[in-house]
Parts: sequence; C-alpha cells; structure tokens
Amino acid sequence: MAQRAVVEIDRKRIAELTEREEAKLNESTQGSKRLFERARRSLTGGVPSSYHLRDPWPIYLAEGKGPRIWDVDGNEMLDFHNGFGSMVQGHAHPAITEAVETRLRLGTQFAAPTEDGVVVAEHLAERFRLPKWRYTNSGSESTMDAIRIARGFTGRDTIVKIFGSYHGHHDYVMVSIGVPYDRIGDRETYESLPYGEGIPQAVVDMTVAVPFNDAGAMERRIERLIEEDRKPACVIMEAAMMNLGIVLPEPGYLEAVRELTERHGIVLVFDEVKTGLCIAGGGAVERFGVQPDMITLAKSLGAGLPSGAIGATEEIMQVVENERVYQVGTFNGNPASMAAARAGLEQVLTPEAYEHLDALNDRLMAGCEAVVEKYSLPGYAVGVGAKGCVTFSPEKIVDYETFKANQDGELMDLAWLYNMNRGIFMTPGREEEWTLSVTHSFDDCDAFVGVFEEMAHDLTA
Ligand SMILES: Cc1ncc(COP(=O)(O)O)c(C=O)c1O
Repeated sequence: MAQRAVVEIDRKRIAELTEREEAKLNESTQGSKRLFERARRSLTGGVPSSYHLRDPWPIYLAEGKGPRIWDVDGNEMLDFHNGFGSMVQGHAHPAITEAVETRLRLGTQFAAPTEDGVVVAEHLAERFRLPKWRYTNSGSESTMDAIRIARGFTGRDTIVKIFGSYHGHHDYVMVSIGVPYDRIGDRETYESLPYGEGIPQAVVDMTVAVPFNDAGAMERRIERLIEEDRKPACVIMEAAMMNLGIVLPEPGYLEAVRELTERHGIVLVFDEVKTGLCIAGGGAVERFGVQPDMITLAKSLGAGLPSGAIGATEEIMQVVENERVYQVGTFNGNPASMAAARAGLEQVLTPEAYEHLDALNDRLMAGCEAVVEKYSLPGYAVGVGAKGCVTFSPEKIVDYETFKANQDGELMDLAWLYNMNRGIFMTPGREEEWTLSVTHSFDDCDAFVGVFEEMAHDLTA
C-alpha cells in the first residue's frame, strides 16, 4: 500500500451524517419495524440467528432475483451482501430453480445417497484437488467434523487457529474471535478466550490461536506446544481472512505454513466456507496454489440451500472409511441441496463466470480506490474473486492486531447506512465484505462506487 497524505475526518461530521442516515433508513423501513415488533414476541430477539440482529430493528426481506432483493417495505436494492457470501450464483437463478423444482417433485429427503451427491463429489475432487469428500449441512458442521477427523487421524487433542478468525459456532472454534482486545495477551502466546458464554473452559484450552501472516510465530507456538506434550492435530485457517474485511496472505506465508505443518506432521485445514466457490472455481487452492490436507466448504456450495462439504486426502479419510471416526448426519447429502449444488457447479459457476466475477471486482475495486484517492480518505480497496471491501484504515491490515488498532468502525457503520439508503444492500457488521454474484453487471458496480463517492463528498465537504 503506497503511503500518501490522508484527510483528517471530522468525527463530528461522521456523527451528524450517521444520525441523518439512520433517521432516513428508519423512515423507509416501517414495515420491517412492524414485523420486528411482531417477531420478537415468538422469535428470540425477532431473528432466526443473532447475526441477523440490527439496532433498532433488522431489515426483513421478501424477495430476490438475480442481483436484486426487495424488503418487506418494497425497497429494491442491489445485493452485495448475498447471504454472507452464499449466493455467488445470484438469486433464483433459472438453472438452479429448475433443478430444485425437478427434485421437489421427486422427493427431497431420504437419508440415503443419490446420484447428484456422487456427481458433486466428483466435481469438488477435481476443483479442489483432494480425492475424498463428505457432506454436512453448514459451515459449522464442516469445520466441526473436519477437526474431529484430524483429531482421530493424529490421535491428538490440541488444535491451532488464527487469532480473530471465525470458523462457525461450535465450541472447538468459538475461541479467540471478537474478544476483549485488552485481554488477548502477547502475540507469541495469545490467550485462548471464549467467544460468548456457554463454552466449557476445557474445550477453550484445547484451542490455541496464533497471528495471521506470521509463519514464524505459528512455528514457535507449535514448537512450544510440542515441548508441553500438546502437539496439535491440525492448523485450521482461512487462506485469506474474510472476517476482518479481507486480509490477503502476504507472499510466501501460505507456502511457509504448508511447509511447517507438513514437517511437523500436522493436518493443514483450509476453511474455504467463504473463499471456496467465491474466489475461484477451485477456491484458495486454485487462487493461491497451496494445497492443504483438508478443505471445508459450505455457503455458496448449496446455491441457496443449506449444505456443506469436507474434502481430504485418501489417507486422512481412511479414518472415516474404516469407521474409527463417525462422520454422520440425517440431512447430509440432502437431495435438494445436492441438486442445487450440482446445477450450480455445472451450469453457473463455469470458468467464464469466474472471468466475469474477476472483471466485475476489478472494476469495483478500481472505482473505490479512485474515490479513496480523490478524497484522500484513510483507506484502501482490497479483494479477490467475488469478494472485496474498502478497509477504512490509514495502515495496511495484516492480522487481528493491526485490524483492532486501525480500523475505523464508525466510518464502516456510516458507509453501510449510505448504501442501504441508496439501493445497495450490504453485509452488516464492521468486519464484513461484499460478495458479487455472476448476475451482477458493470453498471451495478458503478452504482456501488457512486454511493461511495457521495459519502466521500459529504464527509469531506
Ligand atoms: C470461514 C467460515 N467458516 C465457517 C463458518 C460457519 O458457517 P455456517 O454459518 O454455515 O455455520 C463461517 C460463517 O460465516 C465462515 O465464515
């Protein structure tokens, strides 16, 4: 990131604009307000998942088609949220709709395998260069089962993750994520801290976190764990972090992690729940050219239906084949999800689709970067494949510590409000990024940039 002069943003101006934009959004979402008042009587917090919460009320959606969604007030928006990155195929894609409709008439659940599940595994094996696959129903199930398989394979309990990374909501990985910053400890020996209550301390202690983009720190921690007779079963990580905005791997980092995990006989798991089918046809494996021992997928795999998958080497999946480790689930390989996944892989997420996504993202990032430069904002655009964001930080963010020290959360919040009030449905939360779909156009990207420029102008006027 080139060093350049940036403007000092007036905090009072951010507050004024935030207040104005909040009032505007509240006014245009009165139908959501009414639904929230009804929902909270029977649905905890008025939402199906705490990640859908928003103050003063969530925006309830009614419809989606291609790159667009409509909320219950009839507000039409271009969708850059795309279901936390699970709709890279776009909404109600005709090929997927047809495949699922056909399947609906043939029965949607047997708890017995179907041909589509076999075909999907064949595609995944080819794309992600791992021979053996199993299914789950979500990203959390995928990482949970992958960790159990790695533990069964190695006979070890401890696992290593990246500090600040999110890998789902089960106990093994709800550790050292959005935790009190003053308690994280020294980067050579980060504390293992639970993310919320209800997670047994014994489980928390088995999960050890290390900084992203620092293979030296990872290796030193692993060596100490070995000295303590706590050699890890696996390192589970995203090849590019997707929950601090986007943090790309620095050159040589993934290769160094691959080399050291291999040398120590530790299973390397790339959690590709977000990167998976979004940053290339073969995810991070294809994009960065580093081959892990296991991969976890979910989100965009099911093209809008719940699904997940785990891929691994023959040797590792032996522990599942010989039933030393049970990898099971009533809805695993659900026929409707598999029909959607197959149609998505075969008819939508083609090599041309990835060319289109790359071209869109280049345009969007270049447009945002031009605004950042024109208005001398403290930030930069970053992205890969279908994913990107503007990170409001005067310095490049490379890990959790630099994110916490530099990210301008108030500007992130204001950008979200500007988007929502001008027809851009964006992922809520200070840590998130946009996800494009194959149905987006250059005009859609330009609309996003136009809103960003309006905010930059208002902030600096
Ligand atoms: C990298 C990563 N892994 C796992 C998960 C969990 O997936 P799910 O919400 O489907 O359980 C997420 C969810 O955002 C994720 O980003």
